[in-house]
Amino acid sequence: ELGNYRHFMQKEIHEQPRALADTLHDAVAGESLMPELFGFEAAEVFSRINAVTILACGTSFHAGKVASYWIEALAGIPCRAEIASEYRYRDSVPNPDALVITLSQSGETADTLAALNHAKALGHQYTLSICNVPESALVRQSKLRFLTRAGPEIGVASTKAFTTQLAALFLLTLLLAKQRGRLTPAAEAAHIQSLRELPGKVQHVLALEPEVERWAERFADKQHALFLGRGMHYPIAMEGALKLKEISYIHAEAYPAGELKHGPLALVDKDMPVVAIAPNDTLLEKLKSNLQEVRARGGELYVFADADTHIAPSEGIHVLQLADHAGPLSPILHTIPLQMLSYHAALQKGTDVDKPRNLAKSVTVE
Ligand code: M6R
Repeated sequence: ELGNYRHFMQKEIHEQPRALADTLHDAVAGESLMPELFGFEAAEVFSRINAVTILACGTSFHAGKVASYWIEALAGIPCRAEIASEYRYRDSVPNPDALVITLSQSGETADTLAALNHAKALGHQYTLSICNVPESALVRQSKLRFLTRAGPEIGVASTKAFTTQLAALFLLTLLLAKQRGRLTPAAEAAHIQSLRELPGKVQHVLALEPEVERWAERFADKQHALFLGRGMHYPIAMEGALKLKEISYIHAEAYPAGELKHGPLALVDKDMPVVAIAPNDTLLEKLKSNLQEVRARGGELYVFADADTHIAPSEGIHVLQLADHAGPLSPILHTIPLQMLSYHAALQKGTDVDKPRNLAKSVTVE
């Protein structure tokens, strides 16, 4: 079943072009998107809602965080992502006109299921599940659904489930934007075209594995690492840090780069590798000055940059160029090298990559 791969995680990382193509297959067949991709009642629900709440755990929560940037920016709808185990136990203000989205690879995560039931008990009727397992409890209990087609994910560390969730959430964002008259037919066609090109672009980033592997060798003896991103790439930094912790047991933290000088800069020295996600977006110049702050304290920088950022490597600044900026789909492409970095750091350390200690694939108990 593993073919030429050493672990399921590696196999699943490399399956992402196929997983994304399958997940997007129906959506990108024509020149326009249909709400029915999310269920036959979706058009009506989308026209009624005035807010979006996304509930999930772990990696799925990070996908929700990225979507909260997309949905507010492109569809103009207030959106927040919340950790399911927090939402289920706090006194929140219900909004019966909110769309409540649960995100889950397995569809059986206890906290996410409980959060859905909590939302329903509070009077939320518009529920959507984005899930990788068709017959799961979460899918059965939601009004609307979108099934990602990642295929079975065996590695405990979630990879292809995450990027396919992002693809589904981007489709949702476009549909909500369209419903609100914020998407011209030309813009819609252009987004569909970028989605068609996405699997090929992911393949291109996967080809950087040998270089990422060389970087990973430098992480294996480290105790800590910092991951920096800004805007919609901050959740990608969170995802990179989670992957590294989970399978290589290296303590990793993610920060929005603008927060550095509010505390974490005190941690930076030559033994703290700092990973930076550097897309060519409107925050690039801000990010560059954050990187200078790190460099001035002797921190070793590992920068995953879009090719068109023209960030040059120099003393203490390692730069890996991905491709030219991919616009709103950039978070998907920037996820790939972070998955490969944690995989190869774990290989160096000799940990059990597919079954890291203390963790289960599906967290079906609280
Ligand atoms: O099946 P789910 O997506 O609901 O699982 C949620 C988390 O348990 C899961 O994403 C976890 O954080 C992964 N092991 C991370 O790689």
